[in-house]
Amino acid sequence: MSELVLDRLRKEYGSFVAVDDVSLHVREGELVALLGPSGCGKTTTLRMIAGFIEPTAGRITIGGRDVTWDPPYRRDTGMVFQSYALFPHMTVAQNVAFGLEMRKVPRAEAETRVRRALDLVRLGHLADRLPRQLSGGQQQRVALARALVVNPGVFLLDEPLSNLDAKLRLEVRVEIRELQKRLGLTTVFVTHDQEEALTLADRLVVLDHGVVQQVGTPEELYEAPANLFVAGFIGRSNVLRGRVVERGRFVTEAGLALAVPTDGFEPGAAALALRPERITVIPGAAGNGVSGRVALVTYLGAATEYRVTLDGGESLTASMATPRPGDPLKRVGAGDVVTLTWPAETCRLLAPDRGAPTDEGGS
Ligand SMILES: Nc1ncnc2c1ncn2[C@@H]1O[C@H](COP(=O)(O)OP(=O)(O)O)[C@@H](O)[C@H]1O
Ligand SMILES: [Mg+2]
Repeated sequence: MSELVLDRLRKEYGSFVAVDDVSLHVREGELVALLGPSGCGKTTTLRMIAGFIEPTAGRITIGGRDVTWDPPYRRDTGMVFQSYALFPHMTVAQNVAFGLEMRKVPRAEAETRVRRALDLVRLGHLADRLPRQLSGGQQQRVALARALVVNPGVFLLDEPLSNLDAKLRLEVRVEIRELQKRLGLTTVFVTHDQEEALTLADRLVVLDHGVVQQVGTPEELYEAPANLFVAGFIGRSNVLRGRVVERGRFVTEAGLALAVPTDGFEPGAAALALRPERITVIPGAAGNGVSGRVALVTYLGAATEYRVTLDGGESLTASMATPRPGDPLKRVGAGDVVTLTWPAETCRLLAPDRGAPTDEGGS
């Protein structure tokens, strides 16, 4: 049993709150991504779990055991650092063996385990090299092997892909996910990259200013963001500010009246979030929809984006499958009049403030 529970975990530096009462339950074998912008408290949270930083308050349990005040080597965690943190003067095999020596594992057993860990990350043939004789991707795999060799109950990774180039990042990402699933590792994966988090994680925790904004599956966060911060951070959203004027009706600040689901909202200030890919662009003026002029067309290969300035002055971005030759949309360019339509139920009303600091982080 190696489920991980954080209970109102908190870290203050003087009067600055880096991690603000984070509660979270990572299930056995689950990969949870801790996602948020730079400085939001991801590394601090992870290092408290690993035992490198003492919390100001709160509790950490692993497999039901309270480890809040245990030293790192007694926590049953394996950590991969952003900078790899390999020992430059030790060979690959010696680097991987390090955690086993700390734990006083007998030499013969250690050798077997090191070999197995290196095979796991396909580096068996490079065991005698020094880190500087390896590529960035290979160094990162050594760091993975070093964390895995101790058979950690909880696997912790701090932005492990951020030093790799784009192509390698994708490859190692897939490798990490396969390993994690195959070994059934309870894992916390820290990243500021929403795409990485969405593709890797069973569930995501979105952090901002040390506060959990939302916990959920990639689909839950994408389809039902809890606040404007999450709506903007997970994928992209158009945001129109305005007021709910009556049931089912929202008027933007520029005076555009829109039909939207208003369940749970009383008349008053609100913000409307709308995903670009839910908007359809129709060339010319059409009867039903919102009209405007194209400000910018951006070709992205499979998709094309249209930035449209609405008649009232507000802007919306629509993302469409790139039109084929002959499609009238193909000829639409900057300055042209278009009509935008979308299903009313894809609009999501949110509180007008940026985020909603929650008391309860866990789910
Ligand atoms: N030792 C420290 N003393 C004071 N402030 C710190 C210290 N370590 C981190 N912080 C601050 O805490 C916040 C969270 O840092 P960190 O957890 O590293 O963020 P992230 O990993 O999400 O980028 C940042 O604003 C950072 O400046
Ligand atoms: Mg960090």
